Amino acid sequence: MLDPLPAHDREGRAAHYDEVLLGIGGLLDGEDDWVAAMASVACELHHAFEHFHWTGFYRHVGGELLVVGPYQGGHGCLRIPFERGVCGAAARERATQLVPDVEAFPGHIACSSTTRSEIVVPVLTPDGRVLAVLDVDSDLPDAFDDTDRVALEQLASRLGAQFAEHAPE
Ligand code: SME
Repeated sequence: MLDPLPAHDREGRAAHYDEVLLGIGGLLDGEDDWVAAMASVACELHHAFEHFHWTGFYRHVGGELLVVGPYQGGHGCLRIPFERGVCGAAARERATQLVPDVEAFPGHIACSSTTRSEIVVPVLTPDGRVLAVLDVDSDLPDAFDDTDRVALEQLASRLGAQFAEHAPE
């Protein structure tokens, strides 16, 4: 496993993601178990960056409801309807939510009082169904930027294609 990148090393972040995604790609090659894939992705990402304090998935179980999946970090809420929180917004709008200050986000769900910023990326199938969302939270303010967005969207796109059969209609 790679050494975790410090939050302040913004210049090194894109190259670090390249390496992290390469490693994850190797793990996912030929894998057909969705839970194993989510667990491995959460673990690899979480340990690759010093400032990730919650990293994991909420699965779309149908009925516009997200239920927690594999994650790393402290306790996460178990169920999040599409109309609630940052995760719900990502699923509802089918768009990445980059939140530099969670206190300024209406309806943010504070599972951990130390969370200051977060990024939530929808995992969409090629035909646009919501399979899951990938949620990364940090206890630093403004911890995520476009580099995170690009890399995590690339990863989500692969997952959405590879595990599309698990997405509800
Ligand atoms: N901050 C998220 C929920 C986070 S967790 O339960 C780890 C949200 O508002 O969707």
